Amino acid sequence: QQKMTSTLLLISCLVLLIPLFSAEECLICDYFVLVGEPTAVSCPIVTFPGLHSNYSLTWYKNGSATPVTTERRARIHQREGLLWFIPATLDDSGLYECDVRSRNHSNKKTINLTVFKNDKSLCFNGKMKFEQKLMSTKTGKIICPDLELFKDEDNNQPEVHWYKECKPGFLEDKRLLLAEGENAVLINNVTVQDRGNYTCRMVYTYMGRQYNISRTISLEVKERPLQVRPEFIYPKNNTIQAELGSHVVMECNVSSGINGLIPFWQVNDKDVDSFDSTYREQFYEEVTSHGLAVSGTKFNISQVKQKDYAHKFFCHFIYGSQEFTAYIKLEPPAQNIQGYLIGGGVSLIFLVFFTLSIYKIFKVDIVLWYRDSCHPFLGKKVSDEKIYDAYVLYPKNRESCLYSSDIFALKILPEVLERQCGYNLFIFGRDDLPGEGKLSEDKLH
Ligand SMILES: *[C@@H]1O[C@H](CO)[C@@H](O)[C@H](O)[C@H]1NC(C)=O
Ligand SMILES: *[C@@H]1O[C@H](CO)[C@@H](O)[C@H](O)[C@H]1NC(C)=O
Ligand SMILES: *[C@@H]1O[C@H](CO)[C@@H](O)[C@H](O)[C@H]1NC(C)=O
Ligand SMILES: *[C@@H]1O[C@H](CO)[C@@H](O)[C@H](O)[C@H]1NC(C)=O
Ligand SMILES: *[C@@H]1O[C@H](CO)[C@@H](O)[C@H](O)[C@H]1NC(C)=O
Ligand SMILES: *[C@@H]1O[C@H](CO)[C@@H](O)[C@H](O)[C@H]1NC(C)=O
Ligand SMILES: *[C@@H]1O[C@H](CO)[C@@H](O)[C@H](O)[C@H]1NC(C)=O
Ligand SMILES: *[C@@H]1O[C@H](CO)[C@@H](O)[C@H](O)[C@H]1NC(C)=O
Ligand SMILES: *[C@@H]1O[C@H](CO)[C@@H](O)[C@H](O)[C@H]1NC(C)=O
Ligand SMILES: *[C@@H]1O[C@H](CO)[C@@H](O)[C@H](O)[C@H]1NC(C)=O
Repeated sequence: QQKMTSTLLLISCLVLLIPLFSAEECLICDYFVLVGEPTAVSCPIVTFPGLHSNYSLTWYKNGSATPVTTERRARIHQREGLLWFIPATLDDSGLYECDVRSRNHSNKKTINLTVFKNDKSLCFNGKMKFEQKLMSTKTGKIICPDLELFKDEDNNQPEVHWYKECKPGFLEDKRLLLAEGENAVLINNVTVQDRGNYTCRMVYTYMGRQYNISRTISLEVKERPLQVRPEFIYPKNNTIQAELGSHVVMECNVSSGINGLIPFWQVNDKDVDSFDSTYREQFYEEVTSHGLAVSGTKFNISQVKQKDYAHKFFCHFIYGSQEFTAYIKLEPPAQNIQGYLIGGGVSLIFLVFFTLSIYKIFKVDIVLWYRDSCHPFLGKKVSDEKIYDAYVLYPKNRESCLYSSDIFALKILPEVLERQCGYNLFIFGRDDLPGEGKLSEDKLH
């Protein structure tokens, strides 16, 4: 797997190195070169499909009817279908045409060459950089592109020198390795610090003269999420309360930085489907947006049976020759004693409160009812251990009042309160014995 990802990475790097345009897309394709450096421009039409191998290709300077010379010693010449500038000068910036003819096919294409100077105090021009991307933590490669055409007379690739931010010496880092045959630098354990401008330069000898050829690569490093050690999301060695006959989904899932983990269920040291043939595991895997993978397996217990309570259900997965385990235990639901206690307590309090309220409101009636029903046994003595409920005092025998208070106290009050309501009244002048009244009057004073 590791190998494959690095291969993929390599391919994606190479794809990025293909010229900055695609021939079909550009009406006038752009080419760049640094002043003083040789370059060879290819005709973008040649990449068109369906073109016969037997064709002729001729380069023209913009607007000129005379083809560019094929004289190899000329600074600008055409050779093998390419337009060579050895080297380019600032005046060379401009349009060039390539004319492609086969037996019954003819096509023309214009290209736009721009000759740049280096940016001030830099060894490159920021407008003509190749872009490459690498993933952090992986092994990566920076490739010096488009050097194939520049071989020595004996067809050897000249030595390539590397600079980072125009300074040599960065290759002393042990993580970096020169891959000579490939014009590339290998980087082990890429870090974000590796991003930057890399310039590769070689000396090209043509017709006995030496020229510099350089390329600058802008390297981006994408942060890769750290490989996360896999761990159970669920279960967490927990119990589930499930009633006999109920339906339970047994799910186990693992989050990790790697794909392809396969968790599986076991119970009683057997796979779950040999424990019960209706327990059919279903595996799934999904990758979250953070690049983390979730692998899971689940099965249905469509009806919980007694035997399901007897064992723990273990979920396993294997990672790096190590086995990881977590379990679920099914339990019949416990009697909810606490619930009963709380419920009972509340109703008890309510009952007491209710009783008290009833007593408060109907106290008199209750006492009377009690008295009525118990009167025969209790005689005059009542439950609250008082002989009388009320003590009636009234002004005695005033002539002017026509004995009205006497009548009220001695006739109406007893009639209503004693006969109808059942109170025991102490009425002064009726229930007082000689001497007693005096005593109470002494006490009152
Ligand atoms: C290529 O085309 C030219 C004329 O355009 C013809 O003379 C020549 O024989 C052709 N060669 C091949 C290999 O078809
Ligand atoms: C290219 O040639 C056309 C016509 O021959 C001319 O009008 C145009 O200015 C030229 N462009 C350049 C950049 O030389
Ligand atoms: C040239 O064109 C004719 C018809 O336009 C076609 O039959 C023939 O195959 C073409 N030949 C080539 C070499 O493209
Ligand atoms: C050629 O390229 C240069 C630099 O990119 C640009 O300024 C110029 O306008 C281009 N010319 C044409 C005719 O596209
Ligand atoms: C790259 O990292 C791995 C593990 O982190 C380490 O074993 C290895 O030595 C490192 N390689 C270099 C060249 O630093
Ligand atoms: C790369 O070069 C550009 C100028 O072209 C500069 O702005 C940038 O800071 C450089 N990158 C680094 C990482 O130094
Ligand atoms: C190549 O570039 C280096 C560094 O800029 C410079 O010292 C050297 O003279 C150049 N060589 C040629 C042939 O231009
Ligand atoms: C993992 O399993 C638990 C328990 O069934 C579930 O609630 C959760 O959604 C699952 N997580 C993922 C990412 O599938
Ligand atoms: C579990 O049962 C549900 C319906 O209750 C069904 O949708 C699901 O596909 C079943 N899963 C498995 C693994 O049998
Ligand atoms: C869960 O139980 C398994 C096996 O009994 C044990 O290996 C594991 O460490 C436990 N995990 C936790 C989080 O307690």
